[in-house]
Amino acid sequence: MIDPTARCPKWLIDRIGDSGGSISFYRYMDLVLNDPDNGVYSTGKLNIGKNGDFCTSPSLSNDFARLLAIQVVDWLLDLEKSGIDSKLLSLVEIGPGEGTLSRDLIVAIAEIAPALICKVELVLVELNVGMRRRQEKVVNNLEGINCRWSSIEDLILRPVTGVVIANEVLDAFPVERLVFNDNKVFRQGVSLKKINDEYSLEFVDLKPTSKIIKFLKESKSLLKIEFPPKDICNRWVTEWHCDVPSWFGNLSKVLIDGALLVVDYAMESKRYYNAMRQDGTLISYRNHVANPNVLKDAGLCDLTTHLCIESTINYALFNGWKFMGETRQGQALLALGLSTFLYSLQNNINNDLSAALNRRESLLRLVDPIGLGDFRWLAFQKDNSDDLILGKRFLEEPIS
Ligand SMILES: C[S@@+](CC[C@H](N)C(=O)[O-])C[C@H]1O[C@@H](n2cnc3c(N)ncnc32)[C@H](O)[C@@H]1O
Repeated sequence: MIDPTARCPKWLIDRIGDSGGSISFYRYMDLVLNDPDNGVYSTGKLNIGKNGDFCTSPSLSNDFARLLAIQVVDWLLDLEKSGIDSKLLSLVEIGPGEGTLSRDLIVAIAEIAPALICKVELVLVELNVGMRRRQEKVVNNLEGINCRWSSIEDLILRPVTGVVIANEVLDAFPVERLVFNDNKVFRQGVSLKKINDEYSLEFVDLKPTSKIIKFLKESKSLLKIEFPPKDICNRWVTEWHCDVPSWFGNLSKVLIDGALLVVDYAMESKRYYNAMRQDGTLISYRNHVANPNVLKDAGLCDLTTHLCIESTINYALFNGWKFMGETRQGQALLALGLSTFLYSLQNNINNDLSAALNRRESLLRLVDPIGLGDFRWLAFQKDNSDDLILGKRFLEEPIS
């Protein structure tokens, strides 16, 4: 059935027309997010924050960065002490959005470890020009810090030692959607439908590519996931994060020694690839409204999917990373001292009650078990020798 709200903008009609009338869902997601002239990220139409389209942890306040900085400083000091041959330590942020996390991390590192900060450079890896322009305004004001933008490809040519952070980036990677119907598997596609001189978008079933067939064949032995799960309904749909393996592979060539922290919406494979989850995890966001209709307002909304925890870990392991551990964001932030931040608010109440209440609300949102607190922190290590030991404060039991 055609959804009349899924009208296709002119530029996308041309793109789909050029491709013969239909494109894969993967291509659709890539175009609406990252098309250089029309994508929601590339044009910078999308805003992250309370007054924007959706909130991320760093957009609530600088407390997320101040807590994360405690773990980042531990890792940087561990690297410094390990005797590695590098005068410069790099803090690399992939997909920095508005640039607030990079800025606030640098400010917090300078506060926690003033002697360390002069050895640190900030490297931002941003795919989309529109977002990079916004980041420049936020990050360029940082005084006395070496700051640069780089592509992954350039970093591979000049690898670094340090810490890489990817907060809510992998969820914005285009995915293949797989449709299981009548014991057959299809690649989900998107095509045009003309109704009364207007073009709308509709899903179509396309032939699976050889890569999809290979992924499904290998998933049991490599990922310990069997497709499809038992007792699925007809037209059971799920996602394949087909770009994540090569992302880990490329990043392993970027980092000589150091840590990678992936923070994202994620769930265990049992919950992800479950007969009850009939339509995968894909969702669109605009003006803080979540919408399962991912063809609506194409090029004006964010599209996002959860990660499968086991697949993500396995993809990292296959690509040269060591797994350090994984936990929920709520647990990680409490381990890093969030409760002391909450407790210290008592001292501010008499000075500025409204600021103290706002900060309290943001801190609670970071650990909300049905919100940002349920995000997963997955940490990986890259080293040239087995001697490098990186601390795992974020995994420790919180002390009350
Ligand atoms: C959801 S935003 C996350 C923003 C930020 N990390 C935060 O927490 O507020 C996703 C960001 O990743 C960028 N991005 C998407 N794909 C990327 C890729 N392959 N490499 C680098 N950046 C990417 C987007 O342009 C955007 O800036």
